[in-house]
Amino acid sequence: MRLVVVGSQWGDEGKGKVTDFLGQNADVVVRSQGGNNAGHTIMIGKEKFALQTIPSGIFNPHIKNVLANGMVINPKETLKELAGLKERGITNFQLFISNRAHVIMPYHILLDGAYESLKGSHKIGTTKKGIGPCYADKVNRIGIRMGDLIEEESLKEILSSTLPLKNKELKMLGLEELDFTTIYNEYKEYGKILKPYVCDTSLLLTEEIEKDKNILFEGAQGSMLCLDHGSYPYVTSSSPTAASVPVNAGIAPKYIDHCVGICKAYTTRVGEGPFPTELHNELGDLIRERGHEYGTVTKRPRRVGYLDLVVVNYAKRISGIDSLALMLFDVLTNVEELKICISYNLDGKEIKTIPATLKEYARCIPNYITLKPWHENINKVRNYEDLPIEAKEYIETIEKYTNIPVDLISVGPERTETIIRKDVFKK
Ligand code: GDP
Ligand code: IMO
Ligand code: MG
Repeated sequence: MRLVVVGSQWGDEGKGKVTDFLGQNADVVVRSQGGNNAGHTIMIGKEKFALQTIPSGIFNPHIKNVLANGMVINPKETLKELAGLKERGITNFQLFISNRAHVIMPYHILLDGAYESLKGSHKIGTTKKGIGPCYADKVNRIGIRMGDLIEEESLKEILSSTLPLKNKELKMLGLEELDFTTIYNEYKEYGKILKPYVCDTSLLLTEEIEKDKNILFEGAQGSMLCLDHGSYPYVTSSSPTAASVPVNAGIAPKYIDHCVGICKAYTTRVGEGPFPTELHNELGDLIRERGHEYGTVTKRPRRVGYLDLVVVNYAKRISGIDSLALMLFDVLTNVEELKICISYNLDGKEIKTIPATLKEYARCIPNYITLKPWHENINKVRNYEDLPIEAKEYIETIEKYTNIPVDLISVGPERTETIIRKDVFKK
């Protein structure tokens, strides 16, 4: 079976926990887009791991972990991440990196920072990891790919034609130019260390599919951060949708069997851009503290708001979400004023979709339904029937307005703190 895990909001929905949980039945776990802008938290017992580039299957020695062609990879940071895992005893793992994935170079990071500061109040609020400039070079056909990084001659040739262009851009933005030899020598070394992991992952995945293996595609970011369908320009530079998986992993679209949408029980967003259900009050602060809503990568406080089903329904339409995993549900215990947004009001008209322009989206006013709170601690609940009636009503409201079954409910960060209503990823 091939299952896709997608974020159905603005990222940080709990994809890492679900990937780790469902990954217990996976033979292969694949990251197909984004890079180290992602921060996926996994709690194994009391131990907390925050993964950025490495897939969440890395803890299981039987799982093949793949960084596919649609990713942008910072070799220095990836090596640091691997070293950090090794230091914590994760030494027995399988990792495969696509020779077609693009390499994040030092100038990408500098350019990301420079564009952000020059934009001033119009900044996107990026993670400043060089993601946008690296994807821009890919599209502009001046990128360096992993296959080039590991071949000294290719690296030399491409870098010597690209760096002068990038130096012109850096100079234009008032930054210092970079030295070819310094970068070449440094990146050549990363290439040497990473070489054993680099291969044609499209081929590997297709062979695994032919062997009928269980493959889990771990999305990064969320639908509203999609370059094509998100709240542009306040988005990332790749498409975190189920539709993007085949092209970003080099497999045929017909092989995707099921899509799980990861949905936080409320909504969060890091970075700038419209957010209709945002709470600018004490309740927002309370949820932020209880949910530890601070960026895994940048430590920025996340903006917090009520659950927005217009957003979730939009993600359903774009990705074809078959079932939902409802995350951080425990955080809503004792929230007295519980609301769910079911539509927007735009210029006096009710709408149930996301408008394309920022100006229109900024004018959207949420229409809410109010729900009853529950006060019982739900961390220890493992059967749906044992949830308080009000908590079940919250879940049934989501099902009613999205027409998607909530098959998994997460009531705490750890693997075991999970209620399974339907096992969507069987061996
Ligand atoms: P991702 O980027 O989608 O993988 O999500 P993040 O890891 O950035 O953010 C999710 C946060 O919620 C992490 O700190 C998780 O440990 C935590 N988390 C996941 N599920 C639950 C849950 O059910 N309850 C609570 N309290 N925390 C959770
Ligand atoms: P995970 O996988 C939340 C946001 C940034 C910014 C915008 C563009 O952990 O859910 P970028 O650096 O990608 O150019 O930034 O996208 N962003 C995320 N927000 N979770 C993420 O990943 C994100 N990755 C990028 O905050 O608003
Ligand atoms: Mg995250």
